[in-house]
Amino acid sequence: MAYRDIYEGWQSDPEGFWMEASRAIDWTHSPSRAFFEQGPAGEWFADGMVNACWNAVDRHVQAGHGDRLAVIHDSAMTGKVARLTYAQLQDQVARLAGVLAAHGVGKGDRVIIYMPMIPQALQAMLACARIGAIHSVVFGGFAAHELAVRIDDARPKAILAASCGLEPNRVVPYKPLMDQALEEATHKPTLCLVHQRPECTAAMTEGRDLDWDQALATATPADCVPVEGNHPAYILYTSGTTGQPKGVVRHTAGHLVALAWSVPNIYDIGPGDVFFVASDVGWVVGHSYIVYGPLIAGATTVIFEGKPVGTPDAGTFWRIIADHGVKSFFTAPTAIRAVKRDDPDGALIGQYDLSGLKALFLAGERADPDTITWAEDRLNIPVIDHWWQTETGWPIAANPLGAGLLPIRKGSPSVPMPGYHIDVLDEAGHPVAPGTLGAIALRLPLPPGTLPTLWNAETRFRKAYLEHFPGYYETGDAGYVDEDGYVFIMARTDDVINVAGHRLSTGAMEEVLSSHPAVAECAVIGVVDTLKGQAPVGLLCLKKGVTTPPDQVVSQVVALVRDRIGPVAAFKTACIVDRLPKTRSGKILRATMAKIADGEEVKTPATIDDPAILDEIRTALAGVGYPCER
Ligand code: COA
Ligand code: AMP
Repeated sequence: MAYRDIYEGWQSDPEGFWMEASRAIDWTHSPSRAFFEQGPAGEWFADGMVNACWNAVDRHVQAGHGDRLAVIHDSAMTGKVARLTYAQLQDQVARLAGVLAAHGVGKGDRVIIYMPMIPQALQAMLACARIGAIHSVVFGGFAAHELAVRIDDARPKAILAASCGLEPNRVVPYKPLMDQALEEATHKPTLCLVHQRPECTAAMTEGRDLDWDQALATATPADCVPVEGNHPAYILYTSGTTGQPKGVVRHTAGHLVALAWSVPNIYDIGPGDVFFVASDVGWVVGHSYIVYGPLIAGATTVIFEGKPVGTPDAGTFWRIIADHGVKSFFTAPTAIRAVKRDDPDGALIGQYDLSGLKALFLAGERADPDTITWAEDRLNIPVIDHWWQTETGWPIAANPLGAGLLPIRKGSPSVPMPGYHIDVLDEAGHPVAPGTLGAIALRLPLPPGTLPTLWNAETRFRKAYLEHFPGYYETGDAGYVDEDGYVFIMARTDDVINVAGHRLSTGAMEEVLSSHPAVAECAVIGVVDTLKGQAPVGLLCLKKGVTTPPDQVVSQVVALVRDRIGPVAAFKTACIVDRLPKTRSGKILRATMAKIADGEEVKTPATIDDPAILDEIRTALAGVGYPCER
């Protein structure tokens, strides 16, 4: 069915549309209806009984597809490739679930997973789902403190970790980071299960830590436990405007139905197809389209450990696509920009047989038209931008390859997917005319698979997303919709920035900078970066009487952000200023400073208390290389 028919079909009968979509899932007890008006924003399939692991793994084995490849682990860091069939995956996951169950982890208990891109990370998520435990995966690029914050918020019964991750030129010892986080956290989990990687063996704490392989070898496999449709499948923390991350909750049934619909219709992936999503299990893209989505569809998922460039070169993606017969490939625009920078003519692309590759999907940040054109010209396949968020769990706007591709408009992630009604609103909450910029909001209710609330923070959920525009979910993105319904996402309306496809809070970085004893006041802005999309830059006002040399303060705050938030923040630049520009009411003019750093024309804001400060900011930013040449 073509996109327009699908979308109109949903509009005319949302309940019927989602009940029909729910038939792609195996239920222990079918839901009586799709939408339930309960909770702060409604819930989906709440009275159905279902198990996510059964739908991702066991049912394929039961249907006779146990020999089909479920997982290909391709590590460009170790040069090793490993494969797991659905039957092997079922065995590993059932054993791991057995280990958890034997240690008292059951339905509703939280489990934190702190692991790199290895199959055990995927198995850990599925093992939790198998017994109804709620997993929360923490990205490996976060520092121990961030892990501690998540431990105290989620209060997990168990932590599953690996001894290390592998980054170019360095081994990242995860286990000591976990130990440090556990020391800092007030909540103490009872079980720490550690997968020892040969690249770095972790020291174990007697009585608390358990060796993964030994535990699995003697485990009694556990069966799938059916859970209510509105039972949380997972919590995934994402950046908000403060240092306290938001725990996005995902309910089980909506999650399964949305992924079962989107994998074939958007990505054109079906049973036996190979889907390669170069992201990380620590991000929502990893949850939806490395782990659950492809497995629910009975496809093969590629777990890639490495970087787009330098491991060993800019041909790694193309090698993987050729070696494993990848049909759809999904990554972040920044990764393609990195490849383009190292291999501008795409010479390495020509070295591989990419005839099986049907499309390249991009998300995580705006896909700039230059990057799309570069990839289209060299790959000769559709390059599809699509837009979504941790909160939504699956694309809000996309060009649905599986349902029939629409014409591509570069710079636009195309059109709303069924379930999403997009309005662009002015400050008063009124829809604006096509082509007019405004805040992008989604009319309630949101579709299945999206967040029903925030973990332990319903008031924050209402305040952050529902209160500003009554009747809507506020996305935090600004942009416009054109005459033909194509969406254009132009900027964030809050203090969130996007660095190499990673969502980061400038507010969180400011909290760290302010904790330095020499810093009186500070601001962090997101400036344009030709590779990473955006990069954070700090502006610091020092306390009177500080004797530490400014350069030393700068290097200390850079180290502090790395230590408190983690290397993923990519905070490398800061400058010292006498004062920060503010409105007369005392609000720091971050957007104005970001424009100066980007070399954009700046109109002096009418509300500024002292316009002369802008010249001081210009000089300070020039001192650290902004605006830079593009
Ligand atoms: N564990 C530990 N450290 C990690 C990590 C992990 N899982 N992931 C990243 N880091 C570290 C890196 O080693 C780096 O540290 P450094 O400052 O010591 O070099 C820092 O975090 C920043 O990493 P990264 O964002 O990967 O930047 P990079 O400069 O190493 O590489 C790109 C640049 C563009 C190649 C890279 O950012 C990339 O591949 N981006 C795509 C991201 C993506 O897929 N996002 C998912 C959204 S769909
Ligand atoms: P995350 O929650 O980490 O997935 O980040 C979501 C945010 O990334 C969105 O709110 C947007 O600001 C940005 N984003 C993601 N995909 C796109 C896209 N295709 N185009 C523009 N911005 C995007």
